[in-house]
Amino acid sequence: MTAQNSGRRADIGVIGGSGFYQLFEDAEEMVVDTPYGAPSDALTVGSVQGRTVAFLPRHGRGHRLPPHRINYRANLWALRSLGVRRVLAPCAVGSLQDELGPGTVVVPDQLVDRTSGRAQTFYDEGAVHVSFADPYCQEGRTALLKAAAAQGIKAVDGGTMVVVEGPRFSTRAESQWFAAAGWSLVNMTGHPEAVLARELALSYAAVALVTDRDAGIDATESVAQEEVFAVFAQNTERLRGMVIEAIGLLPEGDDYPCARVLDGLTLPFDLP
Ligand code: ADE
Repeated sequence: MTAQNSGRRADIGVIGGSGFYQLFEDAEEMVVDTPYGAPSDALTVGSVQGRTVAFLPRHGRGHRLPPHRINYRANLWALRSLGVRRVLAPCAVGSLQDELGPGTVVVPDQLVDRTSGRAQTFYDEGAVHVSFADPYCQEGRTALLKAAAAQGIKAVDGGTMVVVEGPRFSTRAESQWFAAAGWSLVNMTGHPEAVLARELALSYAAVALVTDRDAGIDATESVAQEEVFAVFAQNTERLRGMVIEAIGLLPEGDDYPCARVLDGLTLPFDLP
């Protein structure tokens, strides 16, 4: 890893959209390189609620990168190399269930991977198999749910997010199939982001904003990209407020359950 500019460290990471730049009181840009190549963009490091936070725009500035072209490994590695141990990950999702309309905020507790061909591990050699039964850190989820309550946002506690390869949206049959399986949300970036965080022993929790009803709930409608971007933009302020509040509620220190996920395993390299 090489970090240009100052050697400033951060303990919390936020991977999100461009509306999150205003998180900071004293932002500083850091260009970070990793053994996996460059992350989506320069990271911005600054103070939020008395904590030092590194922000990474998931798709790069100006939304340059579609979900299947994001270098997820570089993104997570870059965050950890700056000292980050806890990550909050806001994202846009489609709804698969009628009761989760556009504007609903969900803190998911499960994930289904329907992506293909993405680099989804740091461990291409050796025997490193991380537990992933519960893909999101409960401490991060709790902070997000408490933050929502404090901000007067009715966040839904739990839900399964199915992550599709994209960049196309799902067909109506796919969407109805996902819904019939009992899954509640559909998205294109949640995997391998969550598992790569786990492989680096980071605490990682997602917060999902419903932007559309995908293609399965209403048999005559389908999702359009403008709708997704517009609804996300309309709700950025709310989501940003919630994430800022959650940052102040995240426990301090490195003693979180996912920190021990690699204990006893022989790693092929040192973690950054
Ligand atoms: N992100 C936001 N809405 C989505 C949808 N309907 N499908 C996949 N990813 C999405």
